[in-house]
Amino acid sequence: MKKLTLVVFTLLILTGCNTVSKETKDLLNGDFETGDLTGWIANGKAFEGDIVKDVQTYGEYQRLYYHQGDYHLLGSINSGERGTLTSSDFKISNTGFLTFLIAGGFNYNKVYIGLYDAKTDELLEKKSNNLFKDPEFTEGYVRIIWDVSNFMGKDVYLKIVDEDDSTYYDYLNVDGFKVNLTEKELMIYQTDALIRLGYAESGNKLEAINRYTDMNTWKVDMKDKFNYHVTGKIGWINDPNGFVYYKEQYHLFYQHNPKDVVWGPMHWGHVVSNDLVKWEYLPIALAPDQTYDSEGVFSGSAVEKDGHLYLIYTGNIPQRQVQAIAYSTDGISFEKYADNPILDYKSLPADASPSDFRDPKVWEHDGEYYMIVGSRQISNSYGQVLLFKSSDLKHWSYVGTPYKGSSATFSKLGKMWECPDIFELNGHEVLIMSPQEVPGHRNQNSTVYVVGNLNYKTGKLENINYEQIAEIDYGFDFYAPQTMIDNQGRRIMIAWMQTWNRTPITAALGYSGAMTLPRVLNLVNGKLIQQPISEIENYRANKVNTVLNLNQSSEKVENLKGKSNEILLTITPDSNETGVKLFKGQNEETKVYYKDGYVYLDRTNGTKGKIPAGDINNITKAKVDLKNGKIHLRIFIDQFSVEVFVNNGEQTITSTVYSSIDAAGIEFYSLGTSTIEVEGYDLIIR
Ligand code: FRU
Repeated sequence: MKKLTLVVFTLLILTGCNTVSKETKDLLNGDFETGDLTGWIANGKAFEGDIVKDVQTYGEYQRLYYHQGDYHLLGSINSGERGTLTSSDFKISNTGFLTFLIAGGFNYNKVYIGLYDAKTDELLEKKSNNLFKDPEFTEGYVRIIWDVSNFMGKDVYLKIVDEDDSTYYDYLNVDGFKVNLTEKELMIYQTDALIRLGYAESGNKLEAINRYTDMNTWKVDMKDKFNYHVTGKIGWINDPNGFVYYKEQYHLFYQHNPKDVVWGPMHWGHVVSNDLVKWEYLPIALAPDQTYDSEGVFSGSAVEKDGHLYLIYTGNIPQRQVQAIAYSTDGISFEKYADNPILDYKSLPADASPSDFRDPKVWEHDGEYYMIVGSRQISNSYGQVLLFKSSDLKHWSYVGTPYKGSSATFSKLGKMWECPDIFELNGHEVLIMSPQEVPGHRNQNSTVYVVGNLNYKTGKLENINYEQIAEIDYGFDFYAPQTMIDNQGRRIMIAWMQTWNRTPITAALGYSGAMTLPRVLNLVNGKLIQQPISEIENYRANKVNTVLNLNQSSEKVENLKGKSNEILLTITPDSNETGVKLFKGQNEETKVYYKDGYVYLDRTNGTKGKIPAGDINNITKAKVDLKNGKIHLRIFIDQFSVEVFVNNGEQTITSTVYSSIDAAGIEFYSLGTSTIEVEGYDLIIR
């Protein structure tokens, strides 16, 4: 870089300096924070014009560039052009390592960064984006760490060379050139380089997993996703966690393994919404990065205290489960409490298993905080729930055991009780929980509700009527529900719309698991009533309305078809099967129908062999009452799911469906004589 050296040198002489000062030997504006090309010399069209930008994200998914500071150099703006960009001179010193961020540059030989001898202009070495493998790395910066210590003491300069005029990632985006790294800087940048590839050493797991997720988002096609049901950005999700209304938004966290489509190291994924229908991803909130949660950040809840959002979760470690907290002032980034865990085996009553002690749900009552936790009795292996109390969320004491399983409850309530939640509803307390190993159950586990009155002094749930304990939902895919109360005073429940031990069909599309529609709860005559949140009605379009008189026949309704719909049916049945066929294609359909006091969901011919055969896996039913000889069904379908609300939410049936892409027919039928009043909509969310 002879010309610039000469100018600087002349300037130094003119200003009366006779030794070359250190500053002149440092790379100028290596991070482009001047907002322009000060310190660099551009040649050719590739680096022409306004190409130093402070933009943060790119593309359809708003993915982050992960640049440094505000500005970075976007060669992509002049894609298809050739040119060079030359830095100021610097003298190689310290460790002799330099580093920078790079993106793009598919054609290694034609697009690279050269290190040149400042005296002779000889090319000493070059580096291209050797991390460019596939589109996941193209725009998100990776870090190059370059050992140029062989040239220690030499005056050199860098040249960004773009000799590629094709259009396939033919450019380089760069940022953060930093030369002559010290030992300490080198260590920091090496860690950063790993994080940028999604790998983490201890302590950086959260950053790394967020980076990994962002890099791989493109692998899941938006058209393969549910329209109005929450899913992970990529990878696996299970239980809803930390469902809360905070700072005028709904927050939902979830059990999340971003790196695979099966269960694995548990993180807390995070979405927010203004209306419980349209959700937006926030960074993953918690990673298993501490000694007390190294085997997984398991399920838990959220509560607001003094304007801060607290997450209360289970830390999973070998042979133990402990409870821990993390907090946030913005609801986006969370800090784990330094004195975690806040509850461990030492706080357990006698006979409570230290390894099955999980899923804390916290709420406030009369100025105190209460926590209910799922537990297993050591002596007989039946489930129980434990109640703890605190005034500051950090120090907790045991209050009592609201409810305990026994051999007498086994047939309904199985063994270990997961994900308990207890809340006041219409003058009673409702305990919901997810018991494992319920004998003969169509799913591996069940989900039930228990109505009683919580005695906050003794910690007992009193006045339980065992006969009244019932399943919350009669479908195949409903587990680990959690509730929250919102600013309108609504008690809203959401659940994992999947069940254990089955691979979701969407796994092949890069993600597994979804949440149900959020549902508003009420208790009427001791029965839990569920209604979809009314906000979903804002997305109704293309209304149809008709009355069908069926006589051993089936009929379609004009303009009612698809895989993202709401359908309301009022059926006047006879003694024969009558209802609707959904996801109807050639030789496939999923039926929802009424017969003899039950509403059935039958996906035998709707699962393309993805679900194990047999009625127990494919046909389910809920007992219902006719009202004036009629039955009312409100059905929501969304790509791979069906949710049926019977008689305004007296019963629900929620299931995944594994139909072909083009199986989008909707058809009403009766095997006898029936009338069906139909109201139908498309649900258009995006
Ligand atoms: C329920 C559950 C919880 C646990 C979590 C782990 O589905 O087993 O008990 O906290 O999943 O992902």
